[in-house]
Amino acid sequence: MSKFQAPKGVSEYFPPNSLQFEYVRDQLINNAKVAGYSLIELPMFEDTEVFTRGVGESTDVVSKEMYTFEDRGGRSITLRPEGTAGVMRSVIEHNLDRGQLPVKLFYSGAFFRAERPQAGRYRQFYQVGIEAIGYNDPEIDAEVISVADSAFKALGLKNYKLNITSLGDAKTRDLHRKDLVKFIAGLDLDESTSERAKLNPLRLFDDKREEIRSKMQGAPLILDYLSVESAEHFSKVKQLLESLKIDYFVNPRMVRGLDYYTGTAFEFEHELLGAQSGIGGGGRYDGLMGLLGGSDLSGIGFGLGVDRVLMACQAEGCLPESINPLQLFIVAISQEAKSVAFKLVSELRTLGVTCDMAYGDRGLKGGMKAADKSGALCTLVIGDDEISSGNCDLKIMKSGENVSSTLKASELVVKLGNIK
Ligand code: HAM
Repeated sequence: MSKFQAPKGVSEYFPPNSLQFEYVRDQLINNAKVAGYSLIELPMFEDTEVFTRGVGESTDVVSKEMYTFEDRGGRSITLRPEGTAGVMRSVIEHNLDRGQLPVKLFYSGAFFRAERPQAGRYRQFYQVGIEAIGYNDPEIDAEVISVADSAFKALGLKNYKLNITSLGDAKTRDLHRKDLVKFIAGLDLDESTSERAKLNPLRLFDDKREEIRSKMQGAPLILDYLSVESAEHFSKVKQLLESLKIDYFVNPRMVRGLDYYTGTAFEFEHELLGAQSGIGGGGRYDGLMGLLGGSDLSGIGFGLGVDRVLMACQAEGCLPESINPLQLFIVAISQEAKSVAFKLVSELRTLGVTCDMAYGDRGLKGGMKAADKSGALCTLVIGDDEISSGNCDLKIMKSGENVSSTLKASELVVKLGNIK
């Protein structure tokens, strides 16, 4: 056993698995980019208050799961448990909301929550997220959901389900909260559950304990309280999803794990992932910018769990057999050939060919083994004959077929371009 191990519960990716991770992450990012979202690169840590205020004290994320510490200047710092609050902090700080609206941003990276680790639940995990800030258009809600849905479809995923609901506007939530608080007051609850309910009574819908679930059976549901405007908004979002042929299930008991949500909220669940089935989720947040000291703009976004989407792709077997394979692997079988190969590899790389060569003095047999292991589509052996004639054979690894060429990089590029 090695002397050091990674901290408990973190996800790590190294080849060959990291190629799959990268493929999944890039597919999620690409779908955001084609919809006009631009990169925002944020610090991994923020002033703790960005999250306590933004995400909410009643959430598990803030009350139990944050990595908070004092920095050398005595400031309270927290490793980001999610992306939205930090994006808002940055949008406000840099006045991004003063330009063209909506502000459409995407991010990708590591997030940190001190949860109990299990399959699909990590203490450091990866998300790709988007945020669209500035308008409260149902079209933007449907766009955000469709960016996630189309990314899942592009990856080939089929066994997932989209749950949606609406948490309504302030008027809706006030009316509902009053009745919900009344309902909860009539329940026999332990002290910590009552305390949680005082901070945010919606949290009780999210409680995993069977006893609380059954107590909440008759609880008033927010969808029955939607104001006329909220109901219209929600119904338009559903219509737009239908127009895009995106299947959804209205789940009035869905509660997101973060407190900033208002209006449309959604979660994607994958059916083959067991307990940690949430592959992504998001929703609208009307008050968040104001809460963090900015203007009162509405926004909506999502966070997709790259680790879990990768697991879902593995479970469905929809990942390509080989991802971005090297186009060429060169085996040189003499010192002189090695120098020629070294130069050729460099030239080919400049011309955009992905290629590598055998290092060490392993001879033809060892070199071919390395070629095989590299997963390259073609192999090129360079020995004294090839150097003196200037001709060579490109071996297509899958079929064993040979394609003749010269050792010129310009010709090799063309020949390799025809080999898939
Ligand atoms: P969230 O639902 O807390 O939302 O997280 C989004 C996704 O991150 C989850 O659906 C899940 O796939 C993944 N995830 C969360 N925690 C873990 C974990 N411990 N291990 C592995 N994966 C995990 C947010 O974070 C919001 N900021 C999303 C959002 C953006 N809402 C509006 N804009």
